[in-house]
Amino acid sequence: MEKTVGIIGAMDEEVTKLIAGADISVTETIAEMVFHCGTLGGTKVVIVRSGIGKVNAGICTQLLITHFGATHVINTGFAGALSPELSIGNIVVSTEAVQHDFDISPLGHKKGEIPFTGLVAFPADAELVKSACNVISGTLPNVKVLPGRICSGDQFICDRSAKDRIISEFGGLCCEMEGASVAQVCYLNRVPFLILRAVSDSADDSAGEDFNFSVFQSSVAEEFSAAIIRLLETVFA
Ligand code: ADE
Repeated sequence: MEKTVGIIGAMDEEVTKLIAGADISVTETIAEMVFHCGTLGGTKVVIVRSGIGKVNAGICTQLLITHFGATHVINTGFAGALSPELSIGNIVVSTEAVQHDFDISPLGHKKGEIPFTGLVAFPADAELVKSACNVISGTLPNVKVLPGRICSGDQFICDRSAKDRIISEFGGLCCEMEGASVAQVCYLNRVPFLILRAVSDSADDSAGEDFNFSVFQSSVAEEFSAAIIRLLETVFA
C-alpha cells in the first residue's frame, strides 16, 4: 500500500515552510482546515494547519486518516521545555505522549489515564522515533535532539507552578498543546505517529515573550523543515 503521511502543525509558522517546499496538486477545506495534498521529499503528503489545541488537532487527525487516507501522521511545531536538559532551539522526538490536563482520578483512574484504553501515555512508532533521531541529528549536527515523553494540554504553560505540577505528575521533556490528542486518535485508528517539536521557550515566566520571538525567527522553522523533509526522503520515499 502506498504510504501517505499526514503532517499537522497548529499554526501557520509551523507548516508554511513545508507547504512552500512541497509540490501541492490539490487543496480541500474541511472544518475550516485547509488540507494541502501533494508530494514532499518524494513522499505523498497531506499538510495542514489544525489550529491550536487538542480538539482542533483531534478533528484534524481523524480527517487525515478517514478522509485523506493517511497511513502515518507527523505532528510538528514548537514546545516549552520541561526538562532542564533542554534549551531554546533543541528538538524533541516523541517516544510517547500524555495529556497533562486529563484527570478523572476521583473515579479511580490514574492521572492522565484515558478511560477504556487503560493508557496514560500513547506510544509513538518506535522505528519512526529511531529514524527521526538519526536523520535530524545528521541533518542538523549542531542541534541537540532528545527522544522522550511529550506532555500536552489546552494551556500555554508560562509559570513555574504550572510547569512544576506537570513535571511532578508526568515527567516529560516538553509541553505543548496538540501532540497527545494526535497520538490518541492515531492509537484508536491503529495509525503510527510521531511528534517533532522545536523548543521555543522554557514554559516559565518569560515563555510568552520567548515563544513570540521563536515563532517569528524564521531560521528555526527553516532548519526544522529541512530536517523533516530529509526524514520523509529517508523513511517514506
Ligand atoms: N508551545 C510552545 N511553548 C509552549 C508552552 N510554554 N506551553 C504550551 N504550549 C507551548
